[in-house]
Amino acid sequence: MTDGAASTGRARVFSGMQPSGAVHLGNLLGALTGWVTLQEDADCVYSVVDLHAITAPDDHDPALLRQRTLDLAAALLGVGVDPARSTLFVQSHVREHAELAWLFNCVATFGELGRMPQFKDKSAGRDASVSVGLFDYPVLQTADILLYHATKVPVGEDQRHHIELARDIGQRFNHRFGEVFTLPTAILPPVAARVMDLQEPTRKMSKSASSEKGVVFILDEPDAVAAKFRSAVTDSDGEVRVDRAAKPGVTNLLEILAATTSRTVEQAADEHAASGYGALKTAVAEAVIAFLAPIRARSLELAADQAELERILADGAARAREIAAPTLERARLAMGLLPPA
Ligand code: TRP
Repeated sequence: MTDGAASTGRARVFSGMQPSGAVHLGNLLGALTGWVTLQEDADCVYSVVDLHAITAPDDHDPALLRQRTLDLAAALLGVGVDPARSTLFVQSHVREHAELAWLFNCVATFGELGRMPQFKDKSAGRDASVSVGLFDYPVLQTADILLYHATKVPVGEDQRHHIELARDIGQRFNHRFGEVFTLPTAILPPVAARVMDLQEPTRKMSKSASSEKGVVFILDEPDAVAAKFRSAVTDSDGEVRVDRAAKPGVTNLLEILAATTSRTVEQAADEHAASGYGALKTAVAEAVIAFLAPIRARSLELAADQAELERILADGAARAREIAAPTLERARLAMGLLPPA
């Protein structure tokens, strides 16, 4: 059997990330460290989902997309996705994704896609001009997951509806055409920290922030990291303690400090109870710079060796295809598509 998870008894994990901007501390501590940990006891398949990235309404720049795809792959490897244990590939290199998405397009309904909260958000006020790809985004995501018989899908809270949809589509397909697909479950990744924007600490750290001053990128130079923490927004009562509602800025700094020094937030808060905000910011900046140093070094090394990166991705795509191709074949047969002679 080609399904590695079934033959080893380990859970199969699938997750994807869009090459839509530089990787930042929020991605790293909110998702990617979890991806790395999951490799210990699951059979993990991770993808740079470039076909999803081209659904974005406005900012499609082909040269930039190519660069970001390579950069994200380098960053994932730099963070610790291990191609010897996991499968890492670029989504568009495995054509089965697009083909299965078409089959699922004929199973998914217009109504259920129209109800997806993320589509409603992104198309609000402009639904006549967004691409059909944006509408169809969750169907492609369903194909990503079901091609690999993934049982666990580590995603943020905002992706819950998409994973529910993947279950619904898989179940409907199985019911109509016979058991082909395994139904996945969303898992919240083992999160190191939920990182907020340093300038607007009530908003999640995100590439769509209004200013880069509040966003720490994993490739930022140490000086830039220090400067961003120095200008982090705090509050005026001067007390270092954890209080998400009343003190979001200080709490965010403590969370980041804890996650990057393997401590609990409470420990970090206790240790800095007598510090001023300036000292706290310096401590967090130092911790983050030290935490990022090996990640940054590995990512830059890989980004500079494009041939090696391409070799790793070609190998990943070949391994992904070994699982994806037979799954697609079964789906085609189940639906009654005539096998080519
Ligand atoms: N939609 C996901 C996100 O924006 C990315 C993604 C694409 C994904 N395909 C996936 C996540 C499959 C998990 C599984 O975060």
